[in-house]
Amino acid sequence: MKQSYQKIFENNEKWIQKKLELDPQYFDTLAAGQNPQYLYIGCSDSRVSAEELMGLTPGELFVHRNISNVVNTLDMSSTAVIQYAVEHLKVKHIIVCGHYGCGGVKAAMTPQDLGLLNPWLRTIRDVYRLHQKELDAIEDEHARYDRLVELNVEENCINVIKMACVQEQYIANHFPIVHGWVFDMKTGKIIDLDIDFEEILKDIQKVYDLTNTEWLMSKKNNKNFD
Ligand code: CO
Repeated sequence: MKQSYQKIFENNEKWIQKKLELDPQYFDTLAAGQNPQYLYIGCSDSRVSAEELMGLTPGELFVHRNISNVVNTLDMSSTAVIQYAVEHLKVKHIIVCGHYGCGGVKAAMTPQDLGLLNPWLRTIRDVYRLHQKELDAIEDEHARYDRLVELNVEENCINVIKMACVQEQYIANHFPIVHGWVFDMKTGKIIDLDIDFEEILKDIQKVYDLTNTEWLMSKKNNKNFD
C-alpha cells in the first residue's frame, strides 16, 4: 500500500523538474551559499508558511519557528539563530511575525496545567501580566485574544532588541532593524504593527544596554561596589 507521505517524494521530483526547466543552474546556485536579507521568527503553525505568504524564494529568508514566535533568553535555539543571523549572515531586517488564531496564545490565556508546555507558555502569560490592565479592559474575548497576539509580537521584538549582538550590530552598521508583524489568515494579509525600533532601543537601554563598556569598567573599578 502506498503511504501518504510518498506524495512528498513525488512532489519533490516535480519541484526539481520545474526549477530546472526555468533555470538549469538553479541547484548549483542554491548550493553555492546563502545571503538572506531577512531573519523571520514565526509560529510553528502549519498554516503560516513563511516564504510562501511573503513571496520569497529559497535563499532569501533565514527562519526560526516555534510555538507562538517566542524569543526567550534561556532558549538556546532562538538565541543561537539570532546571533548567527546578525553576526555571520548580517541580515538587514529581523521580523517577529505572529498570527491571529494562534493556539499557543489561546492556551496561555487559559489558566490550566499543561505539563511540559507550562514553562514555554509562561513567557506568553508574562506578556498578559505586563499588559493586564489594557487586556482586562477589553470585554470582547476575541478582541482580547487578538490584542494578546499583537502584544506577544511586540514583547518578543523587545526580547530581540535586548540582545547584545543586535545592539552592537545596529550601533556599528544601522542594521538590523526589528519589525513586528501579524499574519491574518482570514484575509491572507500581513499587518505591520509599526514597532518604533529606535524608540524601543533608546527606552530599554536604560536597563538592557549591553554595549556600554565604560559603564562596565567603572563598575569594576568602583571600590564601593561589592
Ligand atoms: Co501560532
